[in-house]
Amino acid sequence: MTVVSEESEQISILDEFIETRNRTLNLVKNLEKDDYVVQTAPYMSPPKWHLGHVSWLYEVILSKITDNYEFYSKKYSEYLNSYYQQFGKPHDKDKRGIISRPTVDEIIQYYHIINKRVSDFLEKNSADDKVKNLFIMGLNHECQHQELLVYDLQHLLADAYQPIQKNIPKNSTHVTKESIKIDGGLYTMGYSGHEFCYDIELPEHQVYLNDFKIDSVPVSNGDYIKFIEDGGYQNFKLWLSDGWEKVKENNWTAPMYWLHEEGEWKTHDFLGKRKINPNEPVCHVSFYEADAYCRWAGKRLPTEAEWEKAACWDENKQRKTLFPWGNEKPTEDHANLLESYIWNTTEIGSFELGKSHYGCYQMIGDVWEWTSSEFVGYPGFKSGFDEYNDKWFTNQKVLRGGSFGTPKMSIRASYRNFFRLDERWLFSGFRCAQDI
Ligand SMILES: [Fe+2]
Repeated sequence: MTVVSEESEQISILDEFIETRNRTLNLVKNLEKDDYVVQTAPYMSPPKWHLGHVSWLYEVILSKITDNYEFYSKKYSEYLNSYYQQFGKPHDKDKRGIISRPTVDEIIQYYHIINKRVSDFLEKNSADDKVKNLFIMGLNHECQHQELLVYDLQHLLADAYQPIQKNIPKNSTHVTKESIKIDGGLYTMGYSGHEFCYDIELPEHQVYLNDFKIDSVPVSNGDYIKFIEDGGYQNFKLWLSDGWEKVKENNWTAPMYWLHEEGEWKTHDFLGKRKINPNEPVCHVSFYEADAYCRWAGKRLPTEAEWEKAACWDENKQRKTLFPWGNEKPTEDHANLLESYIWNTTEIGSFELGKSHYGCYQMIGDVWEWTSSEFVGYPGFKSGFDEYNDKWFTNQKVLRGGSFGTPKMSIRASYRNFFRLDERWLFSGFRCAQDI
């Protein structure tokens, strides 16, 4: 019996591997060769680099679990290493787009070579828990890059990008925004399931919360326009000092990608250049902007513990679930994630089936939500992966919930994303909380 279950588990890792690798390839399938090479900002990466880097990470895994593993190419390893000092000095991040070798064809060939190496390994070797965990980490790492690639494709091409699949969003339900009261007390925070999670989601631990209120929906574009039109970007009193510096330094007057034309706010994204839809969640705001908006609204950002309790605590059953709707994995009826292939946020009040036990909408999918929490390890944190998460425990804030660019296998309510406070090229929004 044990042998059968081990075999089926290995097949499922191999299946997930193939599915994940195909998803990456599908994201770049319709690109012109010229598109692969261009880096449009220092914080972006060319599609060619992402495709090579996710492949290279499986070489890192193979090197840790096989004797005398030989990397495919020293030159490739130097270019494709993102920030792992243990593998030598990485190529400068902001110069990934000025390298023409390895060529696009060579990187595509490399992608297939690594597929073969990993598939052969998974077919021939019986993997113990440590090995399985490393490969599942590799898949989750690839999911993270799929999302980064989507950010980069928007920056590079916007509506000139032709996805292999594009779906029409389902109609939203009309919902009235409410502030939902959540009782405080001790809450056990962190991942409570039995499958893969990142080291930073553990250990589960108790936190004390005061009673608080949290909005049932994310802040919408319509709400955010009121903040702009009330002089939000001109009033230093609303901003943290560092945030105010960023406003002045970068001439911020609206979220990234917004422009004011003919008396109207417009954006330019995968759906083209279009008028802002006031009923979509605001997207492409930094932590500083989210924080300033909350101050203007007389509210505040939730802490990540508050966000998590609102997302997955079932007060009636006195239990925590892995997702706002329960323990069932996300489907297209629950949330707007990458495989929904909508290529945009859905309107406020979408996904009735995805709301949390407390009645909060869209906590998973659509936009990542900024919290006020610093990205640090939980009490009792133990590092699970060298140079992966914990070397970033400084100067970053936690975001929760995933976005329309997040692959569904990689998201759960306990997932902790993290970015610097002024970054806004990701699909980032927020919802407000309040003290009672
Ligand atoms: Fe990476």
